[in-house]
Order: sequence, then C-alpha cells, then structure tokens
Amino acid sequence: MSNYHIKNFEEYFQVYRKSVRNPASFWEEVAEEHFTWQKRWDNVLSWDFTKPEIKWFEGAKLNITENCIDRHLWSKGDKTAILFEPNDPNEPAEKITYRELHTRVCKFANVLKSRGIKKGDRVCIYLPMIPELAVSVLACARIGAVHSVVFAGFSSTALSTRIVDCDAKMVLTSDGSYRGSKTIDLKGIVDEALEDCPGVESVLVAKRIDSEINMKEGRDEWLQPLLDEADSECEIEIMDAEDPLFILYTSGSTGMPKGMLHTTAGYMVYTAYTFKNVFQYREDDIYWCTADIGWITGHSYIVYGPLANGATTVMFEGVPSYPDFGRFWEIVEKHKINQFYTAPTAVRALAKHGTELVEKYDLSSLKVLGSVGEPINEEAWHWYNDNVGKKKCPIVDTWWQTETGGIMITPIPFSTPTKPTYATLPFIGIQPALMDENGEEIHGNQVDGRLCIKHPWPSMARTIWGNHQRYKDTYFSAYENKYFTGDGALRDEVGYYRITGRVDDVIIVSGHNLGTAPIEDAINEHNAVAESAIVGFPHDVKGNALCGYITLKDTGESRDHTNVSKEVNQLITDRIGPIAKLDKIYFVSGLPKTRSGKIMRRILRKISAHEYNQLGDTSTLLDPTVVDEIKELVKADA
Ligand code: WT7
Repeated sequence: MSNYHIKNFEEYFQVYRKSVRNPASFWEEVAEEHFTWQKRWDNVLSWDFTKPEIKWFEGAKLNITENCIDRHLWSKGDKTAILFEPNDPNEPAEKITYRELHTRVCKFANVLKSRGIKKGDRVCIYLPMIPELAVSVLACARIGAVHSVVFAGFSSTALSTRIVDCDAKMVLTSDGSYRGSKTIDLKGIVDEALEDCPGVESVLVAKRIDSEINMKEGRDEWLQPLLDEADSECEIEIMDAEDPLFILYTSGSTGMPKGMLHTTAGYMVYTAYTFKNVFQYREDDIYWCTADIGWITGHSYIVYGPLANGATTVMFEGVPSYPDFGRFWEIVEKHKINQFYTAPTAVRALAKHGTELVEKYDLSSLKVLGSVGEPINEEAWHWYNDNVGKKKCPIVDTWWQTETGGIMITPIPFSTPTKPTYATLPFIGIQPALMDENGEEIHGNQVDGRLCIKHPWPSMARTIWGNHQRYKDTYFSAYENKYFTGDGALRDEVGYYRITGRVDDVIIVSGHNLGTAPIEDAINEHNAVAESAIVGFPHDVKGNALCGYITLKDTGESRDHTNVSKEVNQLITDRIGPIAKLDKIYFVSGLPKTRSGKIMRRILRKISAHEYNQLGDTSTLLDPTVVDEIKELVKADA
C-alpha cells in the first residue's frame, strides 16, 4: 500500500525517507493505486538534467479527465464537483455535480471538435472565473488539445503575444466579466489582440454580462447555442504520459514570458497527491482556493488536483473587497468551507480593515488554512492564524512555482509543527539543496543560499514552449545537474526552509510574478523617456510594489513629470496589465551603471527600501554622483 494519506509527523518522515531513497518506485506505487490508466507505463522515470530531458511513466496511456471526472461518476455522480460562487452575493451559487460536469465537459469537447480542434492544437482561454473556464480547460484535456489559459486581467498586447507564441488556433472568451462593482470588456480586449494574431481561426464567446459586443463574421460565435446542440457524450482521447497537457506563461527576468509546458501523467499524479496531503482533504470537505485559474495555483489546486481526488472545489468569480471586505468570510460561512487557500497579499489587505468583518461570520468549519505566492510575513501570519483560524487551524505556507506544477515545500497539517514565515519541510519526493556562489552545495543547518532541487519530481515543467535552449539556460545551467529555482532560502537549526525571495530580476507583486524587462520595454516606448530601471520595494499590502527610475531625453524643453508618470502607467497597463503599474516613479538625471553599462539594480533596490547604508560595493560605478542624487530624491519622498 502506498502512503496516499499522511497522518502524522512520524509517518511524514518515514514516507519522505522512502520517497527519496527510491523516487521511481515510490511514485510508481502512488500511480498504480490511485489512478485509472488505459495502459500501464514501461518505465517510471528517465532523466538527464544536462539535456534536460525528463520523462515520467513513459509508455503509459491515459486521459486526465477520465481521472478527474469519469471514474467518480459511479460513486460520486451526485456529489458537487464545482461550487460556483458569483461576483454578486445576491446571485445564487451554482452546484455542478460530477455527473453534470461530465456532461458539460463532453458537450464543450464536442463543440471544440466541431470547430476543427484536434489533439495537439493549442487553444487560448481568456475567460473570467465562471464555470466555462474550468469546463473548457477540461474539455481541451479530454480531446488532447493543449490549453493555454491567459489570466483575464492581462492586456490585449500581453494576450496577443501569448497567442502568437503558442500559435493558438482558437480563443475562448466571454462578452465581458464582473470585477466587484465594475465590468470589463473582455471581448473588446480579444478583438484588439487578434489584430496581431492571424493564426486564430475561431473565437467562441460565452455570455456573462449581456453587453453589446462586436461579433466578427466567420470568426466569432456565441458558445451557448453550440453547447445546446452538442452531443453529451465524448470519448476520451487516449494520451501518452508525456503528451503536452497545457502551456502556462510566467515572467522571466529577461525577454518574452516563458510558456511553461506541462505534460499529462506526472502532473496528474503529483497534483493529486499533494492536494490530498497538503490540505488533508476528507471525503465531505468543501475546499476553496481563492486564486484565479489563470495562474498555476488555479490549474493545480482548483481544477486538476481537487477533481482527481473527487473533491468539491469552490470557484469564486469576485474579489475580496466587494461588496465589502467581509466577502471571503461570508463565503466561508455560507458554504461551510473546510480548507481555505489564499495569498498573503489578500490576507494583508483584509487585515487592514480590522477584525470586525471577520468576527461577524461563523468560521468554525475551517480546518486548514493555506498561503501561497510569496513569503507570508510574520504579522500577516499571526493575523491569519488568530482571527481566521482562531489558533486552531494549521497554516500551510506552500512554496512552489509555475514551473514546478505542484507544491514543493510545505508543512503537512496536523503533522508538521508550523513556524511563522517558514514553508518548513520538503514535500514527499522533493530533494532541495542550498547552493553557494561557487556552485557548491551548502550542507548542514543554519545556512542560507540559492534554492535548487536535486532530483526530478513528476509535475516539473518539461520545457519552454518553442525554446528548449532557454529552458536549459534558465533552470539547468546555473548549477550542474540541478534545477535552479531563482529563489534564495535559508535553512534553520532544525532543517526548516524559509524562502527569502527572488535572486533574479523577477519581482513578486501581490503574488504575481513580474519580470522587469517587459515593464521597462513598455516605459521606454514613451517618446520622452530615454532609459528606465524597475525595482521592487517593500509594500505593506502587496508584499512588493514597483518603483521606476526614469531618465528623460534631453530635448531642451521641459516635460511635466506628473503627465509623463500617468502616460507611463497607461503604457504599462496597455502592454502588460494594471498589475504591473508603478507605485513610485522618480525622474533622475542618470542611472547607476557599471563601467560596462549594466544597470546596477541592487543599488536601486537598496535605496528604494530606504537601506541607504547597505549599498555594498559602489566602486565599479561609472558615475557615483548619480547615487547621491537618487538617494536625496527618495529620502525627500519618504
Ligand atoms: C515564485 C513563483 C506557486 C503559485 C503562485 C506563484 C514565490 C511562491 C511562495 C511561498 C515564498 C513564494 C517564489 C517563487 N513564492 N510561493 N510560499 N513563500 N515565496 O507562482 O508566479 O510561478 O511564482 O513565487 O519567489 O519562485 P509563480
């Protein structure tokens, strides 16, 4: 019997030891006992980090939707699979049973097929958090189409870049979306994006807000009439273990966002197994992850992980602040949520509004609280623990990445003693290493270094779509024979890990991964801007906020800084989305650069954090006087 469900700390250690002694045989047992396979694998694992090439369960045949839906029909057909909570609290929630989900996914899959989508084709999904989003993801998986979900808060430029990069044939969207008291014209954004996407043949549009939109003849169709007509049975496409399941874009420190490619069998096994253990999900629990399916958290822990376990997973369309800052707690009470998984930025935003709105609701159903996306600071941890969990619910601070597919470092609730700000211990099968600047592994405790993983795990991304070299360069070249995460971490006296943050030019704002390069590119499009540099600085709600240092072109005439600031933020909103807007902008006469012309962001980071005395070695600077000027500007603003 594999240890599918870990019940105490001792068992965690036992299973952990077993899993790292022989990872292949460990994951083979899990795969064998808890999933439905059309054909068994020939080989559990083959890997070579120098290429890099990683294959799990090679030779196996399966369909992930059979595992997420069909196999539950007999025993749980009437159980709620997806519980949809709309933006507006007055609109009734919708319970979609496993049987209904089966029908809806089959119908949707048949619609995709009828519009020419085949195994291997890419479908871009740009939908708000409505049931069609989860259903369309599963419909793609059912017929072997590769879904590429783009978060419906991204701008038209960001959307078109992603559509072009993966060469999607079809886009799924809606007429619009609700966001608190506002509506967003999603279809308009898609129309703009598609001006630059000649490869897109069809657009299917879900009706959500009933707005007037343009439908382009021969390209756009309303979804509902097609679904109404579609057959409610759709055979699964038999997929190979390593067939692509989806592409999901994440920011890099330079250049284009990276289309991380996840494959089928390993992703399924790992997300299902982590879901079960990290949230200690029991048969009748109601589980809610507040993320958007547009991020990896939603893929793995709203859709695939929970459904593979036959769980009830909540999908929330709205925002934490509408109609007021008690909305999350109202939903917890209303649906008697047992596991609640959210981001530190949400916790901090809610904490700002005091405890009155938390106390107003009955949160006694809660058993486990989760945190993801960025380090959870001490204050937020305690607020969450005291006011939401009433000191009875373990907080699982889960560290992982789009690239890792599933949770990597985390406590196991009721087993691992938690410690504020620590993600604690590696999950089963995960072998972390801390590395020093010379590429040597740092052994022992009470040390810090760069976080790597030494051995493959089933849900790791297999490549960057269309750019395997970049995959190799980004993740497998910094340290020999190891996956490099891009994060720094420390290991305390008992071996617990604390993630200290990115060590590259990626900035985590409100839990969203943003690269500096595309933002700087957007700023530099402004006709008055000569050069710019973006850094993150500590922010009490967002964790990090963005600060831009800008030099203007020397044209002889003076520019109004307030106007340029506004225009710069508008450009960023247009090119990337409002999440990448700058909180602070400083106009400076020069940027701190090395003699070779490289911008020294480290210095800007320190100044932005008001750590003026920790600028480190500035002797390599081309012109040290700009540093004084920048310091004075920032100080004056503080
Ligand atoms: C980066 C990955 C994993 C889903 C959401 C983000 C940071 C994530 C934690 C945590 C400290 C965290 C890391 C990581 N991060 N979770 N619990 N503690 N940092 O996915 O957009 O791919 O971002 O988020 O810096 O590398 P992502």
